[in-house]
Amino acid sequence: MSLSALAGEVLKRCDLLATYSEEPGKITRRFPSVAMRQVHACLTGWMESADMSVRMDPAGNLIGHKKGTQLFSPDFLIGSHLDTVPDAGKYDGILGVLLGVAVVKALDGRRLPFGLDIIGFCEEEGIRFRAPYLGSLALSGRFDPRLLERTDPAGVSLADALRDFGLDPSRLGEAAYPAKKVFGYLETHIEQGPVLDTRNLRLGVVEAIVGQTRLWLRFEGKAGHAGTLPMELRQDALAAAAEFVLTVEQHARSVDGLRATVGSMAVAPGAVNVVPGSIRLSLDVRHRQDEIREEATAALLGQAAGIGRRRGVEFHADQSESFQAVPTDARLTGLLAAAVEATGHPFLRMVSGAGHDAAVMAALTPTTMLFVRSPGGISHHPDEAVRADDVLAALEVMVAFLDKVSGEW
Ligand code: GLV
Ligand code: MN
Ligand code: MN
Repeated sequence: MSLSALAGEVLKRCDLLATYSEEPGKITRRFPSVAMRQVHACLTGWMESADMSVRMDPAGNLIGHKKGTQLFSPDFLIGSHLDTVPDAGKYDGILGVLLGVAVVKALDGRRLPFGLDIIGFCEEEGIRFRAPYLGSLALSGRFDPRLLERTDPAGVSLADALRDFGLDPSRLGEAAYPAKKVFGYLETHIEQGPVLDTRNLRLGVVEAIVGQTRLWLRFEGKAGHAGTLPMELRQDALAAAAEFVLTVEQHARSVDGLRATVGSMAVAPGAVNVVPGSIRLSLDVRHRQDEIREEATAALLGQAAGIGRRRGVEFHADQSESFQAVPTDARLTGLLAAAVEATGHPFLRMVSGAGHDAAVMAALTPTTMLFVRSPGGISHHPDEAVRADDVLAALEVMVAFLDKVSGEW
């Protein structure tokens, strides 16, 4: 099959996998779920027909292995994630996995000296259990077993959900790759922002991935009667949260490069005639410099506490997770840039504002990332798109990159 036909096949496969969803008419695929099992079934068939042996690891990552000529060589890894945010687009994550399968097909029986593992990570977005990177944390040996006790909004623990999916949570540690078994990781992903599109470039080479802090916060006021409780006597938790949301926006706008988002909010009791008593909300803070992100997070928590005090509403920070900014590996990234140059596509060296499994994999093995233009910069939205000729360009680069990696072998 020509590279152009393979790129077309990748896009058709993205269309098909987009139909496996937990919500009719939308793409929502969390882990674990029936929709994820359906994706695994399809992907297993495609990997097997590309002459790969396929396994699901103890964490629920789907891994296709293509043998190299040297039996005991370490493997090179290519991957991305198979889960989505709620009401997602068709390409975030899955494009990188399907391009990995296409690369194996593009080699057309030609064996590299080293083996290739194509990985579909089970979970990256952190939606169902409010914990991101479950797949890559397990695979890189950094999964914290305390996460198994985390519950989803229905009260099901991660451990029970894994059991329902046919996995044994006590064996999750076995998903970790021994560092000696691998020598690099490449993730191809849509940019998810407007930088490449604005400059009319197909591809980007990622030099660093921003750090992020994810917090789960709570304002606790007092519920009351919407008709009888005078305004000045209220302890309205939603009014406090609303003031905080605007404070977050204002603060983030005042610091260069800072992104801060309240993306989720639950109002209790949540009735038309009840003053809101309790609010749970999320806060996501990102910056390419860890100190700036940390300072901003501390400042925002201070502001939230102040808003609470002024309004007679308690403020609690229940859960916080931070991921440091991560540079990609200079040598592999140099080879990737050389591969893009060799294929003749102009490109940009850039920083990723989104989190990626690559940020976690960098702790296991030298890691690099290729970005594909996102038309309109749209992502985490059903209008997310890619251009067919950009996907072809990415495939050309991935094949050229593996040639360069083999050349240095
Ligand atoms: C993942 O998409 C993230 O950047 O949150
Ligand atoms: Mn995403
Ligand atoms: Mn993604």
